[in-house]
Amino acid sequence: MKGSCNSMSIIPITLSFVFLFISHFEDVLAAPTRHLCRPDQRDALLEFKNEFEIGKLSPYCIDGRPKTELWGNNSDCCKWEGITCNSKSGHVIELYLSCSGFHGRFHSNTSLQNLPFLTTLDLSINDLTGQIPSLIGKFSHLTSLSLSFNHFSGRIPSSIGNLSHLTSLDLSRNSFVGEIPSSFGNLNQLASLDVSTNKFSGNFPIALLNLTELSDISVSHNQFTGMLPPNITSLTKLAFLNAIDNAFTGTIPSSLFTIPSLTQILLSVNQLNGTLEFGNISSPSNLQFLGIGSNNFIGPIPRSISQLANLGLLDLSYFNAQGPVDFSIFSHLKSLQLLSLSHLNTTTTIDLYDILSYIKRLSQLVLSGNHVSVPNKSSVSDPPSQLIDSLYMSGCGITDIPELLKNQPLLRDLDISNNEIKGQVPGWLWTLPNLNYVNLSNNTFTGFERSTKHELSSITNPSMRHFLGSNNNFTGKIPSFICMVHSLSTLDLSENNFHGSIPRCLRNLKTTLSDINLRKNRLSGSLPENIFKSLRSFDVGRNQLVGKLPRSLVHSSTLEVLNVDNNRINDTFPFWLSSLKALQVLVLRSNTFHGPIHQASFPKLQIIDISHNQFSGTLPSDYFVKWRAMSSLEKNEERSNVNYMGDEFGYYHDSIVLRNKGVEMELVRILKIYTAIDFSGNNLEGEIPKSIGLLKELHVLNLSNNAFTGHIPSSMGNLKALESLDVSQNKLSGEIPQELGNLSYLAYMNFSDNHLTGLVPGSTQFRRQHCSSFENNLGLSGPSLDEVCVDNHKPAPQQYEPVDIKEEEEEEEEVFSWIAAAIGFGPGIVFGMTIGYILVSYKPEWFMNPFGRNNSRNRGTPRKIFPGNAR
Ligand SMILES: *[C@@H]1O[C@H](CO)[C@@H](O)[C@H](O)[C@H]1NC(C)=O
Ligand SMILES: *[C@@H]1O[C@H](CO)[C@@H](O)[C@H](O)[C@H]1NC(C)=O
Ligand SMILES: *[C@@H]1O[C@H](CO)[C@@H](O)[C@H](O)[C@H]1NC(C)=O
Ligand SMILES: *[C@@H]1O[C@H](CO)[C@@H](O)[C@H](O)[C@H]1NC(C)=O
Ligand SMILES: *[C@@H]1O[C@H](CO)[C@@H](O)[C@H](O)[C@H]1NC(C)=O
Ligand SMILES: *[C@@H]1O[C@H](CO)[C@@H](O)[C@H](O)[C@H]1NC(C)=O
Ligand SMILES: *[C@@H]1O[C@H](CO)[C@@H](O)[C@H](O)[C@H]1NC(C)=O
Ligand SMILES: *[C@@H]1O[C@H](CO)[C@@H](O)[C@H](O)[C@H]1NC(C)=O
Ligand SMILES: *[C@@H]1O[C@H](CO)[C@@H](O)[C@H](O)[C@H]1NC(C)=O
Ligand SMILES: *[C@@H]1O[C@H](CO)[C@@H](O)[C@H](O)[C@H]1NC(C)=O
Repeated sequence: MKGSCNSMSIIPITLSFVFLFISHFEDVLAAPTRHLCRPDQRDALLEFKNEFEIGKLSPYCIDGRPKTELWGNNSDCCKWEGITCNSKSGHVIELYLSCSGFHGRFHSNTSLQNLPFLTTLDLSINDLTGQIPSLIGKFSHLTSLSLSFNHFSGRIPSSIGNLSHLTSLDLSRNSFVGEIPSSFGNLNQLASLDVSTNKFSGNFPIALLNLTELSDISVSHNQFTGMLPPNITSLTKLAFLNAIDNAFTGTIPSSLFTIPSLTQILLSVNQLNGTLEFGNISSPSNLQFLGIGSNNFIGPIPRSISQLANLGLLDLSYFNAQGPVDFSIFSHLKSLQLLSLSHLNTTTTIDLYDILSYIKRLSQLVLSGNHVSVPNKSSVSDPPSQLIDSLYMSGCGITDIPELLKNQPLLRDLDISNNEIKGQVPGWLWTLPNLNYVNLSNNTFTGFERSTKHELSSITNPSMRHFLGSNNNFTGKIPSFICMVHSLSTLDLSENNFHGSIPRCLRNLKTTLSDINLRKNRLSGSLPENIFKSLRSFDVGRNQLVGKLPRSLVHSSTLEVLNVDNNRINDTFPFWLSSLKALQVLVLRSNTFHGPIHQASFPKLQIIDISHNQFSGTLPSDYFVKWRAMSSLEKNEERSNVNYMGDEFGYYHDSIVLRNKGVEMELVRILKIYTAIDFSGNNLEGEIPKSIGLLKELHVLNLSNNAFTGHIPSSMGNLKALESLDVSQNKLSGEIPQELGNLSYLAYMNFSDNHLTGLVPGSTQFRRQHCSSFENNLGLSGPSLDEVCVDNHKPAPQQYEPVDIKEEEEEEEEVFSWIAAAIGFGPGIVFGMTIGYILVSYKPEWFMNPFGRNNSRNRGTPRKIFPGNAR
């Protein structure tokens, strides 16, 4: 036994001797089996890996498994995935660990510091939190650093300025704050800088102006302010400048256009103002993209724009022309493929056919918000012949669908909403083989042209995914041919006069249908079973539907929004919906639901409105314990940059009518962080559950008009986000908890018609209420009450017309603004190829696509493109 033990221990020694021997002669012997890996480097790598939890990969990752999965066996660490070693010294020099499923805090003294020879460090697309440690400055060999797509926060340490060999720095898609440190002025090899989609502030970092190698700058989606520096011209190699979505003011320095290397200038969605001047445009101009829409420029559009002969994309939306515009100035832009002229405030009527015949290569055109004329067929001898990809003509005052669209086999997106188009939706529309999105909302269409046999047969191979026809004058039954459009994902026929039942044939579309909105029609009958397989949003509110909620809903694992308000549905509380892990919005308002509201766990539920039904019974004190989404906002990586609830493409947004701060209001968009509970107008009794105090993210709470008894729980003092509280018309007794005085966002409250007594809290919020918020109680008193009730003729609570809602509307306008969005191209790509990635509507989430940029330095970054722009 002993002997065999000894002989076994000899083997490793011999092996390591051989290894040493070989590695000593590494320059001579190209032994395939030798280990290049140095033990100290291996240990540092393993330690680094162990600093994090390895969890689920980000949804942006293509590969299904973490790179580090196979690390750690006795193999050569230089052969581990993501590692490159120096072939002589064995030091790790490149670390590509994007999409590695790292979760956790980046340590301030990370063991990475034991890999001091790194030239490339790529930790993008993980879930790293914390700050960039100051020791980053020690990696003096770094040429490429990417931390994009994580949850880093805090300021950038100025020690980054010590990385004097850096050529590429990508900090995009994090939550960094503060200014760009002036030490960046030392990065004199830097060619590419991307700090987009963070919370950086301050002026344009002038330290960058010293960096003569700099060719790509992206500072988009931050909070930068101030003017763009005129001496930006010192960047003689500048090719790409993206500052979209900041708060830059002032004019565009006309010197910018003199930089001959410039190919892309994207400055849309800022507060730039004044007139536009191009100065001495370098000739020939290499400029391919010019995006300056959604600013505050005033006219005229300079004629010299015609010298930008290589432009492929031009976004002038919201350019306040303040007078006539000569649209023939665009006729010199022979390469133009995407043109956005939305909301020009011009007195000139745009002739659609003229524009198209001026610019022969144009395929994406945005004219929304201007007056557009569409000549009728007979008056045009030579209609424009190009193939159109997208046409946005919302709010253009047109009365007919442009006839030329009939022969547009490549048409994908068509928006002719908010016009004055009457009559029938033409049958040929369904025959266009590439149609993806059609928006006919807010016209006066009355019906669908009966399709010919030929047209019907072409529906059998459809492409249409999004059909929006809300707010028209459609009558009759919902046409069953809709069910033949097998690609349909969004069907919005809300606010029409449809009657009859919801077509049962919709079940044929159950694998594609994601968003159904049939709100505000006159639909009757019961809700269909078995249409819900892949539904995300289902809104049939304000109809005359009867019966019960279909139990097949229980299989809708993707359902986020269920809204059946103002119907005649007679059912018990659907506690069984708690199996729906994605459910965020549940609205049962104004039906005849009845019985107790059973305790259920709704982990994602943010908005629940079951008001004006006949629910009864008591709520146990732990009722709200499992409502996690209202107790803490979970970060949701997939959608963290999308502000409103809706489909993943931005074609459809959920809307809702809610009572908030005493007024009923329609949210045409629902902010993703919005939370509300409305149980009002039922027969609920017993005490208000103490667990209500767990819902720290709750904004609106309405328990009025029930039969609640007992005290108002003092735990409500924990509802730090609460803005509106209504407990009126109950049988509550005792005092108003003094803790409520600390809720600084609480702008509206109503305690009237109860049995409350005692002192009203004295905080400002309470002193701003109207007297009626406290009336009809047993004995409320106190200085703040005296103050608000001095003058009983005070105007009705107008002041609650909530300020934050106004802000939301402004924000919305920005979102609505159509601008041409380029989501990144390396310079030099042939235009014909790039068309597939150009997006027409301004959908903020799409600007942020980090993968579109064809940056060869970004090795290891997957190229998964958002589904919405893969064309
Ligand atoms: C590494 O070891 C684990 C378990 O010890 C094994 O499952 C895995 O297949 C090994 N990987 C390699 C590359 O040898
Ligand atoms: C650095 O990290 C190690 C663990 O890796 C720890 O033991 C040490 O205390 C840390 N040093 C400092 C200065 O934080
Ligand atoms: C960066 O360089 C400065 C000198 O320029 C030095 O004082 C500082 O210690 C360096 N920082 C790091 C983290 O290496
Ligand atoms: C940048 O250049 C200016 C003038 O050329 C100079 O005064 C300044 O010190 C430089 N800044 C850095 C950080 O090198
Ligand atoms: C650019 O101009 C700013 C002031 O507008 C100045 O502070 C900076 O030093 C200038 N940089 C260069 C490189 O000229
Ligand atoms: C541009 O806006 C700034 C402030 O935002 C203002 O001071 C300036 O006068 C404006 N310029 C023009 C030409 O309107
Ligand atoms: C539109 O232009 C007119 C002048 O034609 C001007 O009076 C008006 O203020 C402008 N509207 C906006 C919104 O700027
Ligand atoms: C509907 O379209 C008209 C123009 O036809 C417009 O004035 C109105 O604002 C639009 N309504 C909505 C809700 O968009
Ligand atoms: C809608 O249609 C009805 C008849 O079906 C008609 O009376 C009404 O005027 C139409 N409304 C509009 C705005 O065209
Ligand atoms: C609701 O249905 C129940 C039977 O399930 C019935 O007794 C009740 O009358 C119905 N209520 C209404 C308002 O129709």
